[in-house]
Amino acid sequence: MKPIILTTLAAAAVLTLPHAHAQSKDVDPTVMVDAFEATNGKFEGYRRSGAKGICAMGEFTGTPEARSLSTASVFSGSAVPVIVRFSVGGANPKAPDNTKGQRNLALQFNGPGGETWQMGNISSPVFGASSPAQMLGRVESLRPDPATRAPDPARVKAFADANPEVLLQGRYFASQPVPASFASVNYWGVHAFGFVNARGEKQWGKWIFEPVAGVQGLSDEEAKAKGPAFLFDDLRQRVKDGKVAFNFNLELAQLGDRLDNATVPLPEGRRKVNLGMLRVTSVAEDAGGACLNITFNPMVLPKGVEPSADPMLAARAAPYAVSLGRRLGEGSKQQ
Ligand code: HEM
Repeated sequence: MKPIILTTLAAAAVLTLPHAHAQSKDVDPTVMVDAFEATNGKFEGYRRSGAKGICAMGEFTGTPEARSLSTASVFSGSAVPVIVRFSVGGANPKAPDNTKGQRNLALQFNGPGGETWQMGNISSPVFGASSPAQMLGRVESLRPDPATRAPDPARVKAFADANPEVLLQGRYFASQPVPASFASVNYWGVHAFGFVNARGEKQWGKWIFEPVAGVQGLSDEEAKAKGPAFLFDDLRQRVKDGKVAFNFNLELAQLGDRLDNATVPLPEGRRKVNLGMLRVTSVAEDAGGACLNITFNPMVLPKGVEPSADPMLAARAAPYAVSLGRRLGEGSKQQ
């Protein structure tokens, strides 16, 4: 695949990069979800990724800076309701809360006039694959050998040696402590998006949701003492105390920055603009709630926010729909 970067030639720009819809057909979404199940296990009723989760509700208020970058109605400055889902990475609904690894923040902004914006953000600045084919290859390389019930180390190594970027995300998680709370970790969008304002000017960037109360991790001893299931009650308590809020920040891309690769963050030190604040106002008491039967499809965007040519972005909608179809048929669950 040819890398798409901003060059001086493309100064205009920051304007029009082709979208990679063709790439989304690289891997059949049913084949992809079947591969997830074969490698990660099949847990009926649950999302095939981000299985263990909880619904919450919140509200978002945009800033004047956001309005100068994008016409998206959610930036109007009035509070907009948001459906929120926090989850633990992976397909296992019993995944322990007290180990290192991925946490997710999925959002649906319900803007004025029925304009919705969906996104699924992860607690790492990079994703674990740069193309759908590479993702499928990685998942297949991790498939347990029926004889040993464990992945074949030689196969895992051969794939990773040939595709070194698949190791970046795991290295990031290994370098970080266990998150103390769903509310105390950064969540990245990992894809670039174009923000288009009323004059038609487009600014590319990558976003992060950063906890207003700061990032907080657990020591190994603290994590052990917490046990495997503390995140839901912790979230309920923090929200009751009125303490769960995130700044929605956009890192602004510059000419030459890579915009089509979810394994490559923008370079350090890019200017960051605050687009607004998300406050979480209530948490479901049980496994139900408005988030249960949503797929947070990152191609559902408001007018004024456009997708980049990152092939992983366009590739998400179809396998999410396959996963939704399966879990609805089995009876939706998330805890
Ligand atoms: C081709 C690439 C990908 C595939 C096949 C894939 C697969 C899936 C599937 C099957 C689900 C469950 C969907 C549902 O049942 O509603 C899911 C959820 C999720 N994925 Fe992906 N994914 C991909 C790329 C990504 C990327 C690049 C990110 C990075 C931000 C990401 C973040 C998430 C999150 C946060 C969730 C949980 C959303 C929720 O709470 O509903 N995925 N993914």
